[in-house]
Amino acid sequence: MKLTRREFGAGVSAAALAMAYGKPGWAQAPVVIKFSHVVANDTPKGKGSLKFKELAEKYTGGKVKIEVYPNSQLFKDKEEMDALQLGSVQILAPSTAKFAPLGAKEFEALDLPWLFKDDKQYETVMKGDVGKWLFKKLESKGIIGLAYWDNGFHMVSANRPLLNPADFQGLKIRISGSKIADRYFRDLGSIPQIMAFSEVYQALQTGVVDGCENTPSNYLTQKFHEVQKHITVSYHAHLQYAVIVNSKFWNGLPADLRGNLDKAMNEATDYTNSIAVKENEDALEEIKKSGKTELHTLTDAQRKAWHAAMQPTYTWAKGRVGGEVLDLLSKATSV
Ligand code: LMR
Repeated sequence: MKLTRREFGAGVSAAALAMAYGKPGWAQAPVVIKFSHVVANDTPKGKGSLKFKELAEKYTGGKVKIEVYPNSQLFKDKEEMDALQLGSVQILAPSTAKFAPLGAKEFEALDLPWLFKDDKQYETVMKGDVGKWLFKKLESKGIIGLAYWDNGFHMVSANRPLLNPADFQGLKIRISGSKIADRYFRDLGSIPQIMAFSEVYQALQTGVVDGCENTPSNYLTQKFHEVQKHITVSYHAHLQYAVIVNSKFWNGLPADLRGNLDKAMNEATDYTNSIAVKENEDALEEIKKSGKTELHTLTDAQRKAWHAAMQPTYTWAKGRVGGEVLDLLSKATSV
């Protein structure tokens, strides 16, 4: 069986790949893996996906070609999940806030406000039982979770300073998908609205929404800070990604290729998680220097008031994500 480069690129089946592997002509036809994501190259996830490409192509001796499509070039938020299940893209790294449409709303537990103390604790927790337990939820959906990637903590912004819970009253705030975020913004009196990441800049600019939350690296690279007069460096919730693959495709790969890809993914994960904090600190510094927005930090009393206002989300979350993941998280974050 001879497969042309073009057929590989068009998403040939894993079974056909396995059959062709090792036969004459293999060397000329690398397996093409499309890796789609929605953020800029110059972010932790953007750099992580390029690191994975570099290592995967190196470790497989060119038998695999990774095509990285950043900035929603190939698919937007909702479409990419469908595309993964249909096999028209092989790897994604969506934020875990976007997993409910896959039937895995338990991932939203990670959006609880002030859940993680810092990025270090986040990383430890995700490498432990919680991370494994969540990935198990994907198996029945035909998806395998390969890794968790860090992107730090959310800030929040609008065209007025957001310092006290009352400042949120009546504001339309863009959220990325999680019902937990929907809930805590409602607790603050605002009106959350789900919107694809690629549409946020324009929505902020034209006033379709009044505000949003995101990490410094996303604010900077999407220029959200240029269309928001005030940003509060609240770090009220964490943004993380799950790198996921179509399991039929992944399991159909020849075992030695898969082994090398796993190795590349593990190293790319360590790399991404090691740069996330600094990337976001640098981005925050650039935002500050740009002078295009005013940055605010919360006093202890203001933070306490946010905590208190958002507290009902914790009680509500149990009905949404179930007690099991909450128990696992509370055990893991209390050590
Ligand atoms: C968002 O939609 O705000 C984020 O999930 C984008 C991303 O992937 O960092």
